[in-house]
Amino acid sequence: MATIDSPARRTFLGSMVKGAGATALAGAGLTTASLQAAPADSARLRSDAFDLDTPYDRRGSNCSRWDSPVRRYGDKFRYGMGIASMDFQAPPCIAEALAERCEHESWGYLSSTAGLKEGIIAWNGERHGVDLNPAQIEISAGVYPGIIAALRTFVPAGTKVLMLSPIYSGFYYHCDHTRVDAVDSPLVFRGGRYEIDWQDLESKMTPDVNAMIVCNPQNPTGNVWTEEELLRIGRLCLDKRIVVLADEIHSDIVRPGHRYVPFASLPDQAVVNNSVSFNAISKTFNLAGMKNAYFYSPNPVLMNRVKQNHRADLNTLGVVANEAAYKEGGEWFDRVLPYLHANHEFTENYLREQLPMVGYTPAEGTFLAWLDFSSVLKAINAKEMAAMHGLESPEHYFQDWLVEHSGVLLNPGSNYGSGGAGHMRMNIASARVVVKEALDAMAGALRQV
Ligand SMILES: Cc1ncc(COP(=O)(O)O)c(C=O)c1O
Repeated sequence: MATIDSPARRTFLGSMVKGAGATALAGAGLTTASLQAAPADSARLRSDAFDLDTPYDRRGSNCSRWDSPVRRYGDKFRYGMGIASMDFQAPPCIAEALAERCEHESWGYLSSTAGLKEGIIAWNGERHGVDLNPAQIEISAGVYPGIIAALRTFVPAGTKVLMLSPIYSGFYYHCDHTRVDAVDSPLVFRGGRYEIDWQDLESKMTPDVNAMIVCNPQNPTGNVWTEEELLRIGRLCLDKRIVVLADEIHSDIVRPGHRYVPFASLPDQAVVNNSVSFNAISKTFNLAGMKNAYFYSPNPVLMNRVKQNHRADLNTLGVVANEAAYKEGGEWFDRVLPYLHANHEFTENYLREQLPMVGYTPAEGTFLAWLDFSSVLKAINAKEMAAMHGLESPEHYFQDWLVEHSGVLLNPGSNYGSGGAGHMRMNIASARVVVKEALDAMAGALRQV
């Protein structure tokens, strides 16, 4: 196993001597064979740097996917397959645009987001066939603050928000933050796909439910909702006076055979007018740390109400990076998307052949694999052990167990609401060799059970 110690790596670390990342690295032992040094800066700026197969080492860059677990698990931790960010080196156009802006060394307030809006409109028009009007778009510092503003607007404290679960854990924090109650309508795993239980969904649309969050594609189950499903949800919500908040942050990451249907493109204007959509290209280009997103609705009444509760102070470099991605990043993403699809296929095949005790949910979109570890949890008495150690859930016990026995960190399914029991979420947006090493490490641990 190779230890990372190239000149480029040393320079990088040298510049971070006081950073948390450098401290974390020192303790991590860093002997993972697959991970190689980041390319030198000059290589990073070359426009042919679309190499997805060579692992891009993010450790020590103060990134939450690879550096946070070190603080918790020390050198037991080896593979960060949890938090939903991609490991690939971003398209060179982003670093180039940032470098150019940094040549001008003044950082006063930002003047305009017109260029960013142009990028958003062009991307959505060309890629998703949705025609956005700049006056309808509000730029935000993340999907998170946009949805929080919408919850504050439509859901008075003490009333309810409806969601199909398992669903993105952040929504439950949004609800806590805004003092509203989350109501889950659990999806039903039927015929190899998570399906909506329409009867349950309708029964949960009580008068105290004021909004429904629709996550499309759905994190963590990977559903890419069809036009028919979205229309049916939209009409039920309209009928019950429930505003739809469509979180479409994973919309670019859709696998062959499926199509992302923007909620705002549904062929029923009354349904569309009852919705606000939230999006970003932070998943598409791994720009989450650049804090940039947007929301829109063709209904000016809804938009103006949300805007009153929303305030985003944008970061100049975030705007520069996002503009560059929209304008020039398309070619890079067109290489990444099939790679993610192949990683899903690789993971599915690996599990079928080597780890048949772990179930894989066929993902229609997202770079997240939703894995069923129920039989493993049973075999290691995760329920009893979690209770004994005062842990939140059996899945949290299994998370610790897996790091202890394999070095792989996955996210506990219980974080994603009802229906998450027995499951873990695995991020497969890495060089394939890293995905394979993580699966090999898991296989080594699970074969001992
Ligand atoms: C469905 C969903 N919404 C929102 C977010 C967070 O968005 P942001 O970083 O723009 O606040 C995530 C991050 O994983 C997500 O999966």
